[in-house]
Amino acid sequence: MKPFLATLQGTVQKTPPFWFMRQAGRYLPEYRELRAKAGGFLNMVFNPDMAVEVTLQPLRRFNMDAAILFSDILVIPHALNQNVSFTAGEGPKLNPLRCEADLSLLSKDRFDEILEPVYETVRGIRKNMIREKFSDTALIGFAGAPWTVACYMVEGGGSRDFINIKNWIYTDPEGFSKLIDIVVEATICYLKKQIEAGAEAIQIFDSWSGVLDEKQFRRWVIDPTHRITQNLKKTYPDIPIIGFPRGAGPLYRDYVQKTGITAISIDSQIPTEWAVENLQTQQSVQMSIQGNLDPACLLAGGDMLRETAENIMATFSGKPFIFNLGHGIIKETPPEHVEQLVSVIRRGVS
Ligand code: CP3
Repeated sequence: MKPFLATLQGTVQKTPPFWFMRQAGRYLPEYRELRAKAGGFLNMVFNPDMAVEVTLQPLRRFNMDAAILFSDILVIPHALNQNVSFTAGEGPKLNPLRCEADLSLLSKDRFDEILEPVYETVRGIRKNMIREKFSDTALIGFAGAPWTVACYMVEGGGSRDFINIKNWIYTDPEGFSKLIDIVVEATICYLKKQIEAGAEAIQIFDSWSGVLDEKQFRRWVIDPTHRITQNLKKTYPDIPIIGFPRGAGPLYRDYVQKTGITAISIDSQIPTEWAVENLQTQQSVQMSIQGNLDPACLLAGGDMLRETAENIMATFSGKPFIFNLGHGIIKETPPEHVEQLVSVIRRGVS
């Protein structure tokens, strides 16, 4: 079995399998070259030839144990008829939805049609992984978690304080739950089709789960994620689901116990010993943990990178563990530093 998938089932490898969030992206000159030709980020996402190529670029350099589909979490609002644009250097921009009445602007009419190129990309990646002999590499499909996707839909882009979405959840939770329901349902369809097309594992990115208090976290992070995992597991019981509730702090415990995910991705602030103690060994089957090198440490490189990576591996030695970053690769990261990290991981610790 592929080492990445075996680890998700709870087995321990000699050295940990690895991949890096945002491994396909702007830190690679070959990505930037293709991006310049594509004329727009979404054009690249919805062009299967380009998206397959970009997914494979990091594998050719670093031979990761997993590839991640090249797409974005914001294709869901886009396919639901919300206006989404990516302007270079500015991040995503959406026409914000601010109340229940605004939900009438969303439509599922063209949802499947708009997302069809993504499924074609998934099939193309699997085919090309065989052709290029990445036979031990697994393919990860993904989606944003409903809370995080809703953050962009309501704020209209990135946000510092999430004041609009928080105002909505506190003043009209019933109305807001209708938006979450729409995103839950859309996400289930999207992930099922990725699996049908050949995704071998799924990651759910909840980048903004860390901005909610305990009660709101249960309602808007745990519950919607649980609905997605239960639905996927009914149809695809063998497809592992990795949850990434970035910034959730001590609420990671609740998340692991209540969402029904298979494995947990930890951000850089989670102490690794705490994760072993509180997230891994409390379960009847040891849950595999993925993480959690600070992307800024990878940007810096040098002895500190080696030491920090070795310390992470030492904590998880003898336990099911996938080496990753605590968040996405920073775009200024020199590819040589990634190379250095890969050799440290492949050497392992005794
Ligand atoms: O390599 C991979 O990890 C696969 C592809 C991937 C992208 N986005 C491509 C992308 C994945 C898994 C994502 C997830 C994503 N997208 C998240 C969750 C993870 C996280 O980073 O917190 C979020 C919040 C988004 C939304 C998003 N997409 C933002 C905020 C931005 C702009 C900021 C930025 O980093 O540029 C994007 C654009 C984006 N998504 C790029 C890439 C490669 C850069 C686009 C470009 O080339 O200009």
